[in-house]
Amino acid sequence: MTEQQAEIDLLFEDAARLAVRTLREQQDRSQPVVRWLEPEELTRALELDLPVEGRGLDSVMELARKTLHFSVRTGHPRFLNQLFGGSDPAAILGEWIATLSNTSMYTYEAAPVGTVVEAALIKKLCNYAGFREGEGVFAPGGSISNLMSVLAARQRAFPHVKQHGLRDNERPVMFASAESHYSIPRAGIICGFGQSATVLVPVDEVGRMRADELERLITEQKKAGAIPFYVAATAGTTVSGAFDPIAEIAAVAQRHDLWMHIDGSYGGSALLSKKHRALLTGSELADSLTWNPHKMMCIPISSSATLMREPGHLVEAMGMNADYLFHQNADLQWNLADRTLQCGRRVDALKLWFSWQVHGDRGFEQRIDQLFDQAHRFRQMIRERPGFRLIREQEGPNVCFRFLPKSQREAHGEERARLEHQATIGIRSQLAQDGSFLINYASLDGAATFRMVANNPTTDDSDLSALLDAIEAEG
Ligand SMILES: Cc1ncc(COP(=O)(O)O)c(C=O)c1O
Repeated sequence: MTEQQAEIDLLFEDAARLAVRTLREQQDRSQPVVRWLEPEELTRALELDLPVEGRGLDSVMELARKTLHFSVRTGHPRFLNQLFGGSDPAAILGEWIATLSNTSMYTYEAAPVGTVVEAALIKKLCNYAGFREGEGVFAPGGSISNLMSVLAARQRAFPHVKQHGLRDNERPVMFASAESHYSIPRAGIICGFGQSATVLVPVDEVGRMRADELERLITEQKKAGAIPFYVAATAGTTVSGAFDPIAEIAAVAQRHDLWMHIDGSYGGSALLSKKHRALLTGSELADSLTWNPHKMMCIPISSSATLMREPGHLVEAMGMNADYLFHQNADLQWNLADRTLQCGRRVDALKLWFSWQVHGDRGFEQRIDQLFDQAHRFRQMIRERPGFRLIREQEGPNVCFRFLPKSQREAHGEERARLEHQATIGIRSQLAQDGSFLINYASLDGAATFRMVANNPTTDDSDLSALLDAIEAEG
């Protein structure tokens, strides 16, 4: 063995030990969720100067330790900040193996294993969605999957655009709920339609798109000379976790010949649960679905499936048939690049495949049920605590709430709303800085609200009541 090979062996043995310790520490409640430093302090702590003369392999383990030391522990039971969390060891291993194999998903020739694994997973996810003849690919995130759905819809409604662009005075319009994710209007911007081409449809009292309003707005747009072609229903909205009424929206879409997409980036995983899949009733009527295993299924980022009910739309919208990749005998079933926005593409399928082997459908179903139950119990705790107030009475995996310290509880109306807004922003920033909890806030109905996300099955009732205690104490 050469000296260099011996050094590489040692490096990866050390790295494996560091991984073991990190995974254990993620679950240790005595450790902070984050060791918060301001950007200037962190820049100094990491000694970011890039050397002209390399420091050799010896230097890398120290960097790895420092990186993990200052990173947010997103697998910690008290990380309740974003729509992802938990850390699935099998999936992490899948991610490592993908990096070790270092290949790209454009052709079967370059990525034989990744290609067949992806095909099997896409088939499985399509079955859950009710897309019997469906097809799809993994994309670098929910935003890109949503963009791909808009491109497929544009191709169906305006087939001339791929070659020639829009015709004069042709004004496509899209629809999504007022609480949908910003990636939908941004997809319209990227397509050159402009942000105003996405009409935001009003929601009901729990944040679901109103199908009657959708119909009214489509008719209004048609009268004004625009061409409605796409509607996105959201299954699990980003802030409040609301599920739009898919079957009702599908009926409107069918009457007006619109492409219907479901942005199930977040809540698509509810399809895995017999108890909660009714939230997506009618999914089989949609033309496309975005589903992110990197959210409720605890797969490391990124894992985002772009699913189509019928085959062919992705290639029609995105295919470029690059000769240097596909040569003469391109078999589009096994050479996937033409279904994507990318050329080179990471092998994202492995981590989900590994995880599915370990947990099976049953294990994932239990995980989703656990997360819904966790949010349900947390809502109950809030109802019972003086000073806390639920903002949305719904059953999704997010809990939006506000808090007022005892001394301010006499306030009413606008004054109360102002105080709650201030308390939310101040308290959550304090919690983040002392590292005890990471919980986000967002604006709902014009004021800040705490948003607790049930994203990690190891978060238990003691964590949730400790969070309320901490908010009270900071307040
Ligand atoms: C409803 C919804 N759609 C799309 C996205 C975008 O997903 P990604 O962050 O994977 O791009 C998010 C992200 O939170 C989301 O909540």
